[in-house]
Amino acid sequence: MTTATPVTASSATVLAEAGRRRTFAVISHPDAGKSTMTEALALHAKVISEAGAVHGKAGRRGVVSDWMEMEKARGISITSAALQFSYRDCVINLLDTPGHADFSEDTYRVLSAVDCAVMLLDAAKGLEPQTLKLFDVCRYRGIPVITFINKWDRPGRNALDLCDELGERIGLQAMPLTWPVGDAGHFRGVLDRRGGHFVRYQRTAGGATAAGEEHLPPSQAEAEEGANWTRASEEAELLGASGGEFELERFLNATATPVLFGSAVLNFGVRQLLDLLVEIAPRPTARLDAAGDPRELDTPFSAFVFKVQTGMDRAHRDQVAFARVCSGVFERGMVVTNAATGKPFATKYVQQVFGQQRSTLDTAFPGDVIGLVNATALHVGDTLHAGKPVVRFPGLPSFAPAHFAVARPADLSRSKQFRKGIEQLESEGVVQILRSLRRGDGAPVFAAVGPMQFEVAAHRLDAEFKSPVRLEPLPYTVVRRLADPKQRSIVDGNRTEVLTRTDGVDLALFPDSTALGVMRRLHPEVRLESLVAGT
Ligand code: G4P
Repeated sequence: MTTATPVTASSATVLAEAGRRRTFAVISHPDAGKSTMTEALALHAKVISEAGAVHGKAGRRGVVSDWMEMEKARGISITSAALQFSYRDCVINLLDTPGHADFSEDTYRVLSAVDCAVMLLDAAKGLEPQTLKLFDVCRYRGIPVITFINKWDRPGRNALDLCDELGERIGLQAMPLTWPVGDAGHFRGVLDRRGGHFVRYQRTAGGATAAGEEHLPPSQAEAEEGANWTRASEEAELLGASGGEFELERFLNATATPVLFGSAVLNFGVRQLLDLLVEIAPRPTARLDAAGDPRELDTPFSAFVFKVQTGMDRAHRDQVAFARVCSGVFERGMVVTNAATGKPFATKYVQQVFGQQRSTLDTAFPGDVIGLVNATALHVGDTLHAGKPVVRFPGLPSFAPAHFAVARPADLSRSKQFRKGIEQLESEGVVQILRSLRRGDGAPVFAAVGPMQFEVAAHRLDAEFKSPVRLEPLPYTVVRRLADPKQRSIVDGNRTEVLTRTDGVDLALFPDSTALGVMRRLHPEVRLESLVAGT
């Protein structure tokens, strides 16, 4: 049982502040418009006066950083952090989920720190592979999902088809709250299904400012929009008949998803998304500790580290640990305990970080993310807490890897440091380490969700442990858990291999899904279980 004494003096404040927090991440496939949406959200919330400040692409003022050498060389970001802004009477925390080539376990881990996700789909493409992977993690964690169908300003798929796809492929009933008027490419605005009125958008130059909106009653919409309006209202009625009415409970238990249509680049539909977050996204609630007891929001400060970023500041090569506050008030300067080591951690330097923008943070409440600078002693999954007793949140799970490489020290005289480095990287969750009985030399196998993790690991072995690594990629892309170790010899063969994770789980690796299919056909008795992204 958690016996921590509530912070009575500020209990009411903590509960009120937590109640104002909406902490979410955008899950999407590269190019669906996540950066554009982030800008648009920030723009609506008046954090940034001109669109472009968050975006890191050429020609715009970027905050996507270029800290590490390799990051700079490849022009991509390997960071993730949180953007905080206020909207209406709420404080919104938008946690970044790195994508593109920097897709990694960090991307998944961010989802352990949010209360809600916005699934951003490209209207022309619908569900895409990376979105599906991230959605798997949301499903595993029971995170409610709001769907935003983006790029409606250009030709795309039919709105009804897109909604059907959600039900058919991921079993999520679509509950559209707005319905597009005009086909993709001829976007006029949306029918607000709750109010019944037409929200007509007015373009602004290049979407650089929040789009203007006109609200028209149905009769006027019909008169002015003709067939487009009639079709939209007929389709919207159809939705009602097919289980698409909004029910809060189904959203919260993650069996259905409210759907909005819009265009991030033109700032269409973004306000509705913000309003929806404020109205229905879950507020922070008591998090379960490792013993399964709820850590109430108004107990003393506690937080868990979901990401550690090395070398964010090129001048100082510092290390920032990002922690999500779970209970109590965080005040800059307070000394907290790292539950993993029992050691104190002084929080003199705390920041809110998003891309290159950093600002010093003084106070944080449940749902907020704090960036702890000089946090060399903190690792992913660590719990921080104030006072006694010790609080420990469950460690973060490792995720189904898709990239594998044998790791050998390039300099044999540094083998000891190499082993130490590998242990350290594994404990921080930089890469997963697998072992093989078959490989006589006992060389560890690195396993990762994204190849960028290998580069980070190699860079750190070299820079911190002075033990450069030689990586030999293995030709596997598909992994399953081998439930029964006695069946190992059936699977361990020429083209497939069984490796053991440090926690003792046996993983069967296949070059592709065809090879997995062949194994299943030839040996239906072998129990090969899907690794949900979150196991
Ligand atoms: P990402 O972070 O998810 O990878 O996507 P990003 O926002 O970078 O958007 C990918 C491309 O899609 C960008 O075009 C962006 O302008 C465009 N885009 C985003 N939202 C919309 C939308 O609602 N409608 C339309 N038509 N396009 C959209 P780009 O040409 O790759 O880059 P840029 O030069 O425009 O920045």
